[in-house]
Amino acid sequence: MKKIKISPSILSADFSQLGNEIKRLEEGGADMIHVDVMDGHFVPNLTIGPPVIEALKKHSSMIFDVHLMISPVHKYIEAYSNAGADIITIHPEATENLKSSISKIKELKKKAGVSLNPKTKIDTILNVLDEIDLVLIMSVNPGFGGQKFMPEVLTKIKDLKKIQIEKNLNFDIEIDGGINFDNSKIAIDAGANILVSGTTIFKSNNGDIKKNIELLKSK
Ligand code: DX5
Ligand code: ZN
Repeated sequence: MKKIKISPSILSADFSQLGNEIKRLEEGGADMIHVDVMDGHFVPNLTIGPPVIEALKKHSSMIFDVHLMISPVHKYIEAYSNAGADIITIHPEATENLKSSISKIKELKKKAGVSLNPKTKIDTILNVLDEIDLVLIMSVNPGFGGQKFMPEVLTKIKDLKKIQIEKNLNFDIEIDGGINFDNSKIAIDAGANILVSGTTIFKSNNGDIKKNIELLKSK
């Protein structure tokens, strides 16, 4: 049974204090930092790019779990790698050749993740499961924090877990979107071992990050 890890999404952080917010997450016991990159094209929102990630990485030794909600994505992979991403997660719909984009990430010695939107089926990535380090299951439609959890994706996690065991694979299963104290346990029981959370970690219990991370982990 893999250790449950928490990857707080800085999308819900105070963007005017991102460096300090990452320090708070580190002190609060986060296992990695979930960095949501959005281009206003693949998703209807625009956040940060390589220069900001590079600046943040200079002041943090945390693992940067970079979620690229950008399309086309292939030609930008190297820039995010150079900026300091440790895990680079892409959406299959954002690249013409998923296998070649995954190879690119691996050539750069980074961990490769693939993200499935709520409507995207596991079949889309069956042929790359043995090459990737992480599957990111979206439990909201990507683009914004603070959305409602979509419980229907739990079946997808259970199915993915079954395939992982059958094929004796070892990728992490990360769930992302609307995770809170009421659904974190069912997500873990379904098979997720990394929880992404933005709103719950930054806004619950008067923003007590340490308490919120512990509460999510303790389920
Ligand atoms: C949404 C992002 C998520 C989001 C999670 O497109 O990928 O990481 O920021 O935020 P919450 O936990 O607030 O749903
Ligand atoms: Zn995300």
